Amino acid sequence: MTASQIIEKYIKFFESRDHIRIPNSSLVPENDPTTLFTSSGMQPLVLYLLGGKHPAGKRLVNVQNCFRAQDIEEIGDNRHTTFFRMLGNWSLGKPASQKTTSRGGYFKAEQIPWLWEFLTDRLKLPVEKLYVTIFNGFNDIEKDNESYEIWKEIFEKAGLDAREKISFYGVDKNWWSRAGLPQNMPAGEPGGPDTEIFFDFETEHDKKFGQKCHTNCDCGRYLEIGNSVFMQYQKKSDGSFVELPQKNVDFGGGLERLLAATENQNDIFQTSLLSPVIKTIEKITRKTYDENKEKIRIIADHFVASSFIISAGVIPSNKEQGYILRRLLRRSLDSLFQLESSDISPIIKIIVEQYKNTDGKLAKDFEKIKNVILEEQQSYNQTQKKAKEFMHKKYPPLPAGPLRSEASRKVGDELMGISKISAEDAFILYSTHGLSPSQIKSLGYTFDDRAFANKMEEHQKLSREGAAQKFAGGLADTNTQTIMGHTATHLLHQAIRDVLGDHIHQAGSNITSQRVRFDFNYDKALTEEEVKKIEEIINKKIKENLPVHFEMLPLEKAKDIGAIGLFDEKYEDNVKVYFIGGSTSSPQEAYSKEFCGGPHVNFTGELKRFTIFKQENLGRGLRRIYANV
Ligand code: SER
Repeated sequence: MTASQIIEKYIKFFESRDHIRIPNSSLVPENDPTTLFTSSGMQPLVLYLLGGKHPAGKRLVNVQNCFRAQDIEEIGDNRHTTFFRMLGNWSLGKPASQKTTSRGGYFKAEQIPWLWEFLTDRLKLPVEKLYVTIFNGFNDIEKDNESYEIWKEIFEKAGLDAREKISFYGVDKNWWSRAGLPQNMPAGEPGGPDTEIFFDFETEHDKKFGQKCHTNCDCGRYLEIGNSVFMQYQKKSDGSFVELPQKNVDFGGGLERLLAATENQNDIFQTSLLSPVIKTIEKITRKTYDENKEKIRIIADHFVASSFIISAGVIPSNKEQGYILRRLLRRSLDSLFQLESSDISPIIKIIVEQYKNTDGKLAKDFEKIKNVILEEQQSYNQTQKKAKEFMHKKYPPLPAGPLRSEASRKVGDELMGISKISAEDAFILYSTHGLSPSQIKSLGYTFDDRAFANKMEEHQKLSREGAAQKFAGGLADTNTQTIMGHTATHLLHQAIRDVLGDHIHQAGSNITSQRVRFDFNYDKALTEEEVKKIEEIINKKIKENLPVHFEMLPLEKAKDIGAIGLFDEKYEDNVKVYFIGGSTSSPQEAYSKEFCGGPHVNFTGELKRFTIFKQENLGRGLRRIYANV
């Protein structure tokens, strides 16, 4: 049975029980600033679960594309994926007094037997392989005996021992809300107990996960394939729970997991949906899945997720969805690189092929997806190249270059291609070159993690102080556009010097959210060609996505390394110097070093296009430029 056939059977099953199919919502939620991605089928339905009237009625069914950024670090095992499709069905409220009617809301007595029928009759999952868990109670919220009675009858009818099949767990396992545990839920959030259904692969228990295996054990033997949340409570601002005016059912089942169960394949990545992707990765890397499971799973999962995210209109950046996309891409490119390949096109092609029956837009967006990933690959290569150049100046080159096998890394010392570097340098790679600690390690460097964490804390403290100072300095207008304007001014200052000569210096500036104004010593009009050159340099620097950071330096040192800017006598000992690229230890690497209070963007890529739209003669040998960014 293919993934598309499961979808078809599922929709049909619930449509024949009077559910109306609702469309898949965008992966990037519209009009919901509280969350970056759609991570469950119920997310677009919260208003209706709280009591709003849904135009399609009380019984809904759909397939929702979901992405869970919080699972990024989990990827590598046999069952987690950041992107998945959730089969959902909902009953939007059954008033306690009302009997179930064909189009009305329903509750446990209907939903649990339907789910069982779908799994065992339509998907033909063997009954003896299914197990369930039920909520054991928490504070004033009772143990779910009602679900127990329903499940008991079902198992007994199937000739199975209910005591073996049903287990009770507390809030940590059998309570569901978008925020997780009851104590983590914000006021107003709906949630409730759930009953979960598991498929038993009968694999051996791994004692790493506890002495004894059990239904909700993490060892991988049992896979959760569905979750019926009885969404009937809402958190109040005093921390207590009230019953919602309506009792809802919110069922969600991961399609990829249901497919794994129907194929009795305990590795999601080996199912008919994802195994062609794995095979393609094996082919282009010429490495076997068996020996490189974790890396190949990361590549497969992250490329699938990235393809869907790019298709939803996101591009890599250092903010919000763009930042998550960048993280996914860089993690997967790291793994691909470690397997000595960089050929991304066949991977995207096979992903598009595997999902085209259900997600045709992916195929239409193939070129776009490919180009966005290629661009990110280039920008990441650039970042890594700069980082390596910086490191090679300080440390002897690594014997085997950056590509070392996992085995050599495990033996791990200088001889085997690992170089121990100082936490300071690791921090420069992080703050100046934009590499995460794990990316630095994947380049073959080790460092003292604790000392690195201390550096990070110190840096954050400085940033906070910097922010306070900036406030005291009267930089009142700090919206994103103005912050971008500040960084653009530094780029402009340097670019003007590149084009007109080093005798040019800033005579003043003024930044609003509409434009950047910049004054400098020059007594004639800039030619069209000069204007074009300046714009080109700046736009190139934006494209290079250079990291921007500051360092507090003694005034003399700042002048020594060639920092420019309007130095002011009132700043005595230490001055704040912003670097665009480079740092004090590699000042020649920096494109711009300028004395400034800030604030600035973190990476030049956050700026849009830089254009000069006007210039004026101010007299007294001064010129003024206006620009947009
Ligand atoms: N909201 C629940 C989940 O995400 C069931 O749909 O698991």
